[in-house]
Amino acid sequence: MKGADNMPYLLRAARGEILDRPPVWMMRQAGRYMKVYRDLRDRYPSFRERSENPNLAIEISLQPWHAFQPDGVIMFSDILTPLSGMGVSFDIIPNKGPVISPAIRTLKQIEDLHDLEPEESLPFVKTILQSLRKEVGNQSTVLGFVGAPWTLAAYAIEGKSSKNYTITKAMAFSEPEILHRLLSKITNSIATYACHQIACGAQIIQLFDSWAGHLSPQDYESFALPYQQQVIHKIKKIYPDTPVILYINSSAGKLNQMECSKADIVSIDWTIDMAEARQRLSNHITIQGNIDPGILFGSHKVIKERIIDTVQKAGKGRHILNLGHGVVVGTPEENVRYFFEIAKQIDKLTTLT
Ligand code: CP3
Repeated sequence: MKGADNMPYLLRAARGEILDRPPVWMMRQAGRYMKVYRDLRDRYPSFRERSENPNLAIEISLQPWHAFQPDGVIMFSDILTPLSGMGVSFDIIPNKGPVISPAIRTLKQIEDLHDLEPEESLPFVKTILQSLRKEVGNQSTVLGFVGAPWTLAAYAIEGKSSKNYTITKAMAFSEPEILHRLLSKITNSIATYACHQIACGAQIIQLFDSWAGHLSPQDYESFALPYQQQVIHKIKKIYPDTPVILYINSSAGKLNQMECSKADIVSIDWTIDMAEARQRLSNHITIQGNIDPGILFGSHKVIKERIIDTVQKAGKGRHILNLGHGVVVGTPEENVRYFFEIAKQIDKLTTLT
């Protein structure tokens, strides 16, 4: 491809190019395991301020870039961020997590939600993404992200993180048309938001359907997959060359359904072996993952062995090295540094076939 050498590594791999090593970045690579982040958080205790004040969000997004030079730099934000622009108020409370109040549970509340106008209600996104692009140039790839409709609907309905999603499931299995109405509304806004991020400079979009793993394959077909498809379809209609990654937690039973979303890249967790995932997914799919974030609490020896094992099982090309979920609070920074160091010289440590 003309000019491809000027393109950053992750973007090239995400577009299907075979490179000498897989690109590497980590989900939740910015955050509480980093001392510089904790220090900044002490000065700015509000999560919304940290993520919505462009100067702070830019600084936080770049903390892992300065420390480890990952191949991808993800915008510091949250999947809940766009909800405020739809008229859903939320906060993220220390040691408690997201709180959406009032929770969205009635048809009236759903009908009252507005269509997101990102330029107006999320003006900081443009500043953040443009600055990140300027800052990393073609040395790294800037990722934007959105929550998928099912996961965002589950948060909006439950009002907080949940173990069993019983209120959402009560709606799904007694008044499905109300849930579908909410899912459709979120889908429109989220697709608009993803396109806006690309217009502002995001080079890849990751769609987090973190809680779709809680659905049976049958219910995934009605409540998650069609809405993922609509979001991806809208992105691809305007930006056919922007790669889309789909991540689901506990997705081993849904790999082939994930592929039906038409995402270019399927991001898997560590409960499935990489070799099996490679076998079950079609050849044109790039796989992202899938090291257990818990490995980063282990010895250098084990970290190195697992990187080699995962990369070998993924084979040459069509692989983005990542964890199977976000970096966990308390992870030694030194081990994250080691992970990136080894990952970047993996082509010298093993032969990929
Ligand atoms: O990856 C990155 O570095 C970008 C930043 C990012 C955050 N949230 C920052 C954040 C991303 C990509 C997310 C996505 C997100 N948010 C998801 C999908 C990914 C996943 O983990 O499955 C989900 C489900 C959320 C909702 C959410 N926000 C949760 C469950 C929490 C944790 C609550 C807690 O206190 O442990 C948050 C808060 C949040 N978002 C934090 C960070 C760094 C931690 C709070 C803090 O730093 O003060």
